[in-house]
Order: sequence, then structure tokens, then C-alpha cells
Amino acid sequence: MCGIIGYTGPLEARQILLDGLAGLEYRGYDSAGIALCLENSHIALAKKAGKVKNLKEYCDHHITASTHSGIGHTRWATHGGVSDINAHPHRAGKVTLIHNGIIENYHALTEQFHLQNLLVSQTDSEVAAQTLNQLYTGDPLAAIRDLVKLLEGSYSFCIMFDDQPGSIYAVRNVSPLVAAATHSGSLIASDLTALIPYTREYFVVPEQHIVKLTPYKVHVYHMDDTFSKYYPEIMTVNWNMDAAMKNGFPHFMLKEIHEQPEAMRNTILPRVNKGLPDFSDDHIPDSIFKQCDQVQIIACGTAMHAGMVARAIMQPVLRIPIMVSIASEFRYEEPLIDDKSLVIIISQSGETIDTLAALRLAHQCGSTTLAVVNVKGSTIARESDYVLYTHAGPEIAVASTKAYSVQLAALYMISCRMALVRGKYTPQEAYGFLAQLLDVIPAMETLISRKEQIKKTADHIIKSPDAFFIGRGLDYAFSLEGALKLKEISYIHSEAYAAGELKHGTIALISEQVPVIAIATQEHVYAKTISNIREVKARGAFVILLLKENAVVDEDLADIQLRIPEVSDHFTVFPIAVVLQLIAYYASLAKNLDVDQPRNLAKSVTVE
Ligand code: M6R
Repeated sequence: MCGIIGYTGPLEARQILLDGLAGLEYRGYDSAGIALCLENSHIALAKKAGKVKNLKEYCDHHITASTHSGIGHTRWATHGGVSDINAHPHRAGKVTLIHNGIIENYHALTEQFHLQNLLVSQTDSEVAAQTLNQLYTGDPLAAIRDLVKLLEGSYSFCIMFDDQPGSIYAVRNVSPLVAAATHSGSLIASDLTALIPYTREYFVVPEQHIVKLTPYKVHVYHMDDTFSKYYPEIMTVNWNMDAAMKNGFPHFMLKEIHEQPEAMRNTILPRVNKGLPDFSDDHIPDSIFKQCDQVQIIACGTAMHAGMVARAIMQPVLRIPIMVSIASEFRYEEPLIDDKSLVIIISQSGETIDTLAALRLAHQCGSTTLAVVNVKGSTIARESDYVLYTHAGPEIAVASTKAYSVQLAALYMISCRMALVRGKYTPQEAYGFLAQLLDVIPAMETLISRKEQIKKTADHIIKSPDAFFIGRGLDYAFSLEGALKLKEISYIHSEAYAAGELKHGTIALISEQVPVIAIATQEHVYAKTISNIREVKARGAFVILLLKENAVVDEDLADIQLRIPEVSDHFTVFPIAVVLQLIAYYASLAKNLDVDQPRNLAKSVTVE
């Protein structure tokens, strides 16, 4: 979850590291630090709790020497609280190290190498640094290989050795790293956003290989006895720097909400052939859709909510079991999947560790795996049998918005293709389905243009410490995402309930002026949802009702009505998602909170 950057080359390293960390801050923002290799091989270290700007201010006053290599880190605390001491890099003898991940056996290593009196921080990362220092006898590759043999857990490390000035070493297990050799030096980072100001060509650091960066070359070694060379596949970034900037928007989240129509087009249109969904260019054969007898969807958070919507769309048409699991639970559920199961993995980052673990378990069970992933070359994308990339571009705000919409678009297309190849849809029906999917794009644009109207809800919502989202059927699946969005960035306790379930306990929490965001877009349960809304209204709730443009409803039912353009029931999630995202955004804004980097969270959850 932490951000990592390393640079060696002719340019001023300090600036590159600080700029890189500012771009990577969304990965973790408890504290930040850099280590720079100075002319005399002395290492200058700066570590500060808080945001990267604290570190920058400190460096402006304390580190002025010109430097050409160094490593930097933004932290999301796991072991040890948020403090300057626990921030990375960690120093141990000749070793300076930054770490992303968790060293599970740090305690055993502390005992084995008698580190108790050497450690100054409370971190597992410092244990790795101290252990490496003890293993180091002048050969960095051998020491790193020996360290890796001892480690349990997930990690990516960038390491400098005092007696190897200008060189940076790296190694990874699970936690992501990308690297590039450019005309202006060599770079390594946890995330492409730190590399794209300097290059469009990069490679994904393979697991269990060691990387050595020198000012103009990057070498990759197998971790065998002779450290034979490995030549990674060079990839090209398919988005530009603008995509990772705010471009005049006050927050990434608002920008990303606005980007949704384009992201939808980019994801859908390349896969439309004669009006039908076609995954030939993605090399996804129809056989995987035809041969399965059940579908298991696995994901976390917002991605899992997209999966829940997909289930509600797929199951009635395909008439086979479609199951959705939370990735962190899946492993412990003794899942009923086998070689006749199609496992669909959904992940924006492609690095979420629980989702990755579930993918690996699915392979062990002999299932075919299809990943819906946004980040090209990510671990989940590489390890899945098949990948359907969503083309949202980089999503920087911690709260997922455009990634959710395009995940849904991809899942709707999968559903349509499956129905077609399994004979559940005629070509005409599939054609109609896809046409309706494309029709949601202008509906999303309409909602975005009505944002000032949606903003007015924020004043009411922030008055209460609690908020409830209710709906039935698909509307309930949307409610789950609405509640997550609101709670993660406004810190208002928000819960989603199937509207019919309220009477079984939750209605006890409804009192005067408690906001209830009620979603009523599904015709077949509309009347029942309206009755449930009446029940909360009768108990004093402040009702914000989301419904279709032409829906008929009594004026006194809701305090605020937010209407979406008429799209058919199965497709209302797209405009509704925009409304829910804007409600959360404006609530966070009204509370003057950090919209893009809410407390305790990080964008990519690479620890269990
Ligand atoms: O990168 P992933 O899609 O695998 O991430 C999954 C969740 O961590 C993510 O969707 C999270 O719930 C969002 N921050 C919510 O807005």
C-alpha cells in the first residue's frame, strides 16, 4: 500500500524523489521519507510523519547538497505507529532500505539475528534492513538472495548499500514494482504514475528476481546461483501525464467522476463488432463462457459491489449459479468451485492482495479465471488466464468512481456475450442489450451536468452522524456502493439495507431528520420500495429519493427528489452511481475533509 520510488542518473535526485512521492501519495500518506546518496557516499536521510509536503518543507531547509541517486517512500502504517522514526527509509549499517508489504516472520528474524538491541523503530521493515545488513559481505545480489530465502510475507524493497554508490537494488514478492531505463537515468517505483513524467516504456519487475539500477542501465537477475540475466518484456503506457493530473478540478475524485462517460466509451466501443460484444482482440475465447456450469465473482470493496450488480444481471438470463464473494473471506469459505467454474476476478489496481490470493486459490481448484482489471500488467492481470482490461485510465482518488462504472460496463458486456454464446439471447436481443448499455452514457453526462442540484443534499446529510441507503433488488446493490462511498470520504456512519429488511431491526435507528437515501428505480419492486420509504418518513427521516425521470410519486414522500433520465431498469446503475458519487463528494467537501486521501485508507490494498 506504500509508495516507493528510486532514481539514479544525471538529474537532481532529490527533486525527482519528492515529485514522485507527491504523485504516489495516494498509495499511503501517513508519513514519508527519502534517502540520498551524497558525493562522499554518505547517505542523507529525511523522514517525516504526515504528508509529503511536510517532508518537502524539511528537505528544503535541511538537504541542499546536489545528489544523483536515492530512494523515497510514502507509508501506510502496518507495524508501528505513525512517527518520524517508523517512517522509511530504514538504516542498518551499510544498508538503507524502503519496504512495501508485511514481513510476517519479523519476530523470528529478530531473535535469530539478535536484533533486539539494534532496532530503533517498531517496524517489520527495519528488521529486514538489519537482517540484510548482517548478511551483507560486499556482494549485494548474494545478500538479497539470502535475505529473500529467510523472509515470509509480501514485500517489495528498494535498497542502497553505502559501498555501492549510484546503484539501487530491488526485489519483490507480490507487492508491485515497475522500472524503466531512460536517457535521463533509471527509475523504479511502486506505480507507473511516478515513471510517466520521464518515460512511456517500462517493465514490471518480476517476482523473485533482483533488479539493479545504475545511472543508464537496469539489470534484472534470476535469483539462481550464478545470477543469470533476465530480459523482461518492455511495455508501453497507454495514457498520458494529463490523466494523472487534476487538470483544473479541485479534486481527483471530481475529475474522475467527470471522466466516466469517456472511460465508458473507451471500455465498450473497442469491443463492439456489428453491434455485438466481441472479445476477440482481448483473446478471450467463447469456450470459457460456454463450458462453465457456474460463475464465481470475487473482489473487494467497490469492485465487489460491481460484482453484486453483475450477479443480479447475469443470473436471471443465464440460469446458472452466479456467486459473489468478498475476496478476503473466499479463502476461508471452502469454496465450491472446480474445473467447470468460471471465476471472474474484479480489481481496479490488479494488486489487491486478498483478491490475488483468491485468484491463486481458484487456479488451485482448476477453475478458469477471467480478470476485469484496470491497471495494465498488474499482478492479477498477469496471473489470470484471461484479462478484460477496463480503460478508465489512472484512478488517483482513493474513492473509486470511474473504475466502478467501467467494471460494470465490462461485466455487462461479459453477461451479454455469455447469454449470446449460450443461446440465451438471440443476436437481436444481444444487440438491443448493448445499445441500451451505450445509451447510459448520455444519461451519466446529464447527471454530471446536474451536479449543483445534487450538491444541495450535502447540507442535510452532514448534519447527521448517520445515514441509511435503502433499495430493493438491484437498487439494494447500488445502495451498498452509495453507503461505502459516503462513509469512506465523509466519515458519516452509513449503512445500506435492503428496504424490506428495515423492519427486522434497523428501523429502530430511524429518528427525526436522519438522512435516508432511498433508491427506487426497479419497476417490479417499486411499489414495495415506496411503502418502505413511507415507513421511514413516518418516523421522521429526511428522505432523499433517487428515481427515474417519469416516475410518479406523492410530493410528500421525500424531502428531496433526484431524478435520473429514463433508462431501462437493468441499466439504472450507471446514472445512479454518478448521483451517489456526487452525494458523497459534496458531503466530504461540506465537512472540509480531504476528499482524495481520506483518513486511514490507501488506494491499493496490498497487505492482508
Ligand atoms: O484495486 P481494487 O479494485 O482491487 O480495490 C478494491 C477496493 O479496495 C476498492 O474498491 C475500495 O473499496 C475503494 N477505495 C472504495 O472506493
